[in-house]
Parts: sequence; structure tokens; C-alpha cells
Amino acid sequence: MSVQHFLTLDDLDAATLAQLIDRAIELKTEFKQGLVYEPLRNKSLAMIFSKSSTRTRVSFEVGMRQLGGGSLYLSPNDTQIGRGEPIEDTARVVSSMVDGIMIRTASHHDVEILAAHSSVPVINGLTDDYHPCQLLADIQTFQETRGSIRGATIAWVGDGNNVCHSFMNAARIFGFTLQIATPKGFEPDQAVTALNHNHISLSHDPKNAVTGADAVVTDTWASMGQESERAKREAAFDGYCVDSSLMALAHKDALFMHCLPAYRGREVSIEVIEGAQSVVFQEAENRLHAQKALLELLLA
Ligand code: CP
Ligand code: NVA
Repeated sequence: MSVQHFLTLDDLDAATLAQLIDRAIELKTEFKQGLVYEPLRNKSLAMIFSKSSTRTRVSFEVGMRQLGGGSLYLSPNDTQIGRGEPIEDTARVVSSMVDGIMIRTASHHDVEILAAHSSVPVINGLTDDYHPCQLLADIQTFQETRGSIRGATIAWVGDGNNVCHSFMNAARIFGFTLQIATPKGFEPDQAVTALNHNHISLSHDPKNAVTGADAVVTDTWASMGQESERAKREAAFDGYCVDSSLMALAHKDALFMHCLPAYRGREVSIEVIEGAQSVVFQEAENRLHAQKALLELLLA
């Protein structure tokens, strides 16, 4: 039997993803009521982190514990991964002892290799190309606050990066329109654009992108691994800060969304991220509940 991985949103069909979001909302309610639910007793999740993380690490680790299981944090520095052990061998060895593997690393191709050689589900906890777990939490957050995202208009202002790519896939799968504005040279990947072209628009005009939007989303201008480009990027992204004047062009009750970590005064102003329309901490909290629903689906 083939193993169900979660490397991009397309690994699950639209109906399953919709159920997963509903289940995340249900698990959140039950958790807040103090209900103990442990379907993953004696199950283990290996978490390989080649990049930094706060939310992803805490949410997967705590999520596994709440579901009755456990997790292991593995960094390349203190495993043989950092000394060049082939990914194929790591996959075979680790998957022979655990029930699931979560990985955060630069190369999406490496994650595909890991999944191809793993006997247990592999979950993408962020690559340079995609961040599907973030989208589960973001769709949950929109649904909790505004109802179904189907038919909504969402604006993406900033870098055409990994989170943007997952938002583009989500637009097609969940049935909303994504109006993307990036500076020239920072557009999303062409293949991801082609795949989702019926559900997205591309421009270099943030004002145009946010006009009439039900939510405005942004992310850091310099993702992990791009630290040396920070100065160049800050110059290129001049005019792309989501501030109050930009938010004023969206619907008056439009949400402000950001996966975090956020850099105030760069991609977003303090007023907007700390303002009444901001749901960034709800998105962060929902990482826990959305991923518990994912872990239940893949590991239980
Ligand atoms: N949004 C997100 O993935 O945060 P971390 O990098 O802290 O995991
Ligand atoms: N685009 C950011 C997201 C961090 C959660 C990065 O890749 O660093």
C-alpha cells in the first residue's frame, strides 16, 4: 500500500482538505473544553529541522504530545545527516523506527527523495518552494473568522516565495481568487503560476492587488537562506509595506494575515500587525490544531 505523504496541498484531495479544516476547528474546541483525546498513543514523529523554527517545532511537538504520542527533534548538526549520510538511507533507517517524519529543509527535491524512500508518512514543514502546513492554519483562521473562503478575494503583497506558492495552490483547491503583487524579479515560480493561472492574478501594483480584498497577506522580504540579500531586497520592496493606507483599499473588515515571524516597519507596519484586523496570532495558534488534524489523518 502506498504511503500518504503531505509535501504540498495537492497530496490530499479538496474534499479531504475541507474535512481536515473542519476537524481542526473541532479539535481546537474540544481541546479548549479540556477533552483528552489520544489516538496516537505509542506513536512517534521524527522532526528533522535544517532551518530555524518557533511555530512549526512547538506546534508539532506539542501536537504529538496532546494526541498521546511523542516526537524527536533531529538537527543535521547532531545527526549523520550533517555528515553526508544519503537522504535515502536516512529515510529507510528513521522510518523503520517512527510512525511519521516531519522535515523542514531548503530543497523541496530532497523532501521528495526522503518521501520516496520512507515507509511512513512524510510531512513538509517548509521548503524553499512550499509551506503547506501554514496554509492549513491560514484557511482555518479565515473560516473561523469570516466563514468559508470559497469565492473570497485574497491579496498577496510581497515576495513570490514558498508561502505564496502554497497560497496559490490553495486558491485553486479551496476556490478563491489570489491577487498577487510582487516587485519585478520577485514573481512566484512559473510552473506554480501556470498550474494555478485560473485562480490568480499577477501584478507589480500593491494598491491594485488589495483593492476589494477580504484578506491581505504578506511575509518577510528575505526568507531563511536569503539573509545576505536583505539590503538588496529591502530596496526592491520599497512601496510594498502593508500599512494602514494600503489596508484602507481592502474591504473595511479585511483580515491582515502573516505566517510570522514578521518584521515590523518592513513588510508590515506596527499599526496593521497590532491592529484590530490582524489575525496573525490566531494563525500561529491554529498551526497546533490544523497539524493535529493532519497527524490524526496520516498517523492514526
Ligand atoms: N510560520 C512558521 O512556519 O513559523 P516558524 O518558522 O517559527 O516555524
Ligand atoms: N518565507 C519564510 C517563511 C517563514 C515561516 C521563510 O521561508 O523564511
